[in-house]
Amino acid sequence: MSKSENKLYGDVHERPVPAKVTVPSIRSRKNGAPLLCLTAYDYPTARLVDEAGFDLILVGDSMANVVLGHASTLKISLDQIISATRAVKRGADRPLVVADMPFGTFHVSPEDTTINALRLIREGGAQAVKLEGGESRAHLIQKLVQADIPVMAHVGLLPQSVHSKGGYLIQGKTLSSAQQVLRDALAVEKAGAFAVVIEGVPSEVASVVTQSLSIPTIGIGAGQGCDGQILVFHDVVGLSTGPAPKFVRRYANLADVIRKALGELVHDIQQGQFPKESEAYALTENLPSHWADDVIEEQSAPESSSSLDRSSP
Ligand code: KIV
Repeated sequence: MSKSENKLYGDVHERPVPAKVTVPSIRSRKNGAPLLCLTAYDYPTARLVDEAGFDLILVGDSMANVVLGHASTLKISLDQIISATRAVKRGADRPLVVADMPFGTFHVSPEDTTINALRLIREGGAQAVKLEGGESRAHLIQKLVQADIPVMAHVGLLPQSVHSKGGYLIQGKTLSSAQQVLRDALAVEKAGAFAVVIEGVPSEVASVVTQSLSIPTIGIGAGQGCDGQILVFHDVVGLSTGPAPKFVRRYANLADVIRKALGELVHDIQQGQFPKESEAYALTENLPSHWADDVIEEQSAPESSSSLDRSSP
């Protein structure tokens, strides 16, 4: 008897499941084909990002700006990132899903940091976490890696340091600053990070950092010399508001597409052109002309005293 004759039902998973990107497979892309990375914060976006062939989805704390309308990334909570990560995981079959550690979740103690990172993995379903900071955060990265939590590091411009730095300032423009970026990158590599985001540094500096590391670098505003690139989804498709930084390339203007669509819907409703008969439901039997009168009469008839007077014995 052939194997298939033994089966009562067909295979449950007929759809080919693509090979999942893993932490080791990201690591192995050093000096290989450029790593394709993008942010996503919900299910439909994650599906589209996956379909487009991206390797890694970051559920970034940039969600605070582009989804929740905050002026900085500082206000997003761990619970909000966990909830977004769950949705992204449902939409992302192939890409590695990395969850950002929000401001305040790795600032109290190494124990607290581990507990918070574990929540991103266990409750959110993330396969790795990202945290901002170089040398000064290396001990935390080491602790997480020891707890089997893969870490993507983040050096250069750190949006969570907006207050301590006095703004979103490009890093590595001077000798001492460039050397600090390199020191930070080497420290996070030594601590066990499997990749590092380099944000807002001159291309020359990012290239030298990339050549000095054995883990992949993923650039954002860091030029061409990195092992991969990452951008914020809403910036790329034209859904973010306000002026975009110069490193952003906008590939669509979805805000205009949505404005036009909503304007047409408003017009159609106001003009009585929506909904049409084909967009409504039909009866399955003819109703007599008085069908509504009967119900209305029934409802307006005075109720009998016995049903109203509940207090009577
Ligand atoms: O939160 C974020 O989106 C990020 C990236 C853009 C690197 O940290």
